[in-house]
Amino acid sequence: MSDKKTNPAHDDAKSNESRRSFIKGSSVMLAGGALAGSQLSVAKGAHAFGSDTIKVGLVGCGGRGTGAAIQALNTSGGEVKLVAMGDVFEDNVQSAYRGIKGKHKDKVDCDDSRFVGLDAFAKVFETDADVVILATPPGFRPQHFEAAVKAGKNVFMEKPVASDAGGVRRILAANEIAKEKGLAVQVGLQRHHEFRYKECIDRLQNGDIGDLIYARAYWNGAGVWVRPRKPEMTELEYQMRNWYYFTWLSGDHIDEQHIHNLDVINWLMDGHPVECQGQGGREVRTGMDNGQIYDHHMVEYTYGDSPYGNNVKMLSQCRHIRNCWNSVSEHVHGTKGYCDISKAIIYKPNGEVAWESDAKEIRQKGWQQEHHDLFSALRRGETPNEAEYGAHSTMTAIMGRMATYGGKVVKWDDAINSEISLADTDAMTSFDSEAPIQPDADGRYEVPVPGVSKVV
Ligand SMILES: NC(=O)c1ccc[n+]([C@@H]2O[C@H](COP(=O)([O-])OP(=O)(O)OC[C@H]3O[C@@H](n4cnc5c(N)ncnc54)[C@H](O)[C@@H]3O)[C@@H](O)[C@H]2O)c1
Repeated sequence: MSDKKTNPAHDDAKSNESRRSFIKGSSVMLAGGALAGSQLSVAKGAHAFGSDTIKVGLVGCGGRGTGAAIQALNTSGGEVKLVAMGDVFEDNVQSAYRGIKGKHKDKVDCDDSRFVGLDAFAKVFETDADVVILATPPGFRPQHFEAAVKAGKNVFMEKPVASDAGGVRRILAANEIAKEKGLAVQVGLQRHHEFRYKECIDRLQNGDIGDLIYARAYWNGAGVWVRPRKPEMTELEYQMRNWYYFTWLSGDHIDEQHIHNLDVINWLMDGHPVECQGQGGREVRTGMDNGQIYDHHMVEYTYGDSPYGNNVKMLSQCRHIRNCWNSVSEHVHGTKGYCDISKAIIYKPNGEVAWESDAKEIRQKGWQQEHHDLFSALRRGETPNEAEYGAHSTMTAIMGRMATYGGKVVKWDDAINSEISLADTDAMTSFDSEAPIQPDADGRYEVPVPGVSKVV
């Protein structure tokens, strides 16, 4: 009796075991028809491409957009062609064009379909592309995803899928239309496509370390590029070039990068946290080109009841500071052992290895595998849909940011229903449009202050 109150994580070990078996049983049953319904469905009337050519359009021609397009063109089972490219900046379109052509000379057919400007995305969607890759900064993703779905495109979109709660809701609403239309939607949370992650999560959900008690998730590293202001830039252009440092564009690094690790724990828990609290700030990220984002966040998330453990805590850290302890990894501790999920190793309570994945995958392999999985599914006439968990993992990160910026406990329902909008991207028609935030007289931007800033 008292155990129940003092240590809710140890609650009802038996009933968790039976709920776990029930969930596992159900997904086996589902697998016979449409595998894990929400993630992969055979849409009524979905076009099976078979070995036909699949045409691809790219929106956001930076580092990741270039990589994702090359990975799409690398897939087999039939021809894949890049038929359109769009970006707000001409230099980025041209360098991506050269980069992709360098790898796939005969698969790039964009001589007359390279678009530049804030409406370039719409022009890409007007082409006959079957699949569009959305790889801009996340602040534009909701607007672009909604338009892609309206245009009837299958979508591969990079994570995170939004930078604020309204954006997450817009993604979820557009995804309902995508499902009705039988469109595939994949999100660049590539760990879901890495064999050893899948194998490891499966074992943990099957109870290999008993009931789960707490998890740890890290993205601690040195940080990212700075793109300095040039005199000829308008304020909006400057923010869009140096996008990582503006919350409306990147969501802050807890959303932009740490989402990968938060998403792994959501995947393991088969749901999202119900609340969180945390702290963060800017120790070294204080230069003129460092915009407004923090350089560290530390958040304690709480999950609700789950078949895998009740009130499980996730301790999350992300840091962008040089010469510190670095780790990009996920871990979970249970009643019968501990697992380093990122290494796919399970340990017994005495520290002996109980299981280790044989898969010799390198991390980058997921970037390729997600495209193999998407294109082979389309060829079979299947429409995988990852938007919901992509949106919930994005919201998990945004909720953490709300907690660190505000210094208060944040509940999921309040966070996802937040009316605070960071930007109106639909209103941006040229670089002369007003930027969502403005610098002060010294050229500095307002930085959230815990206990003072209102963020939910
Ligand atoms: N899954 C992964 O492991 C992974 C890795 C890297 C990046 N990403 C994601 O990919 C996205 C892009 O990151 P990146 O590293 O390629 O950044 P990047 O700066 O190299 O590229 C972004 C591109 O988008 C363009 N762009 C900005 N706003 C646009 C708009 N409104 N319309 C059209 N184009 C626009 C920019 O000009 C730029 O060319 C981010 O969401 C990032 O998180 C994912």
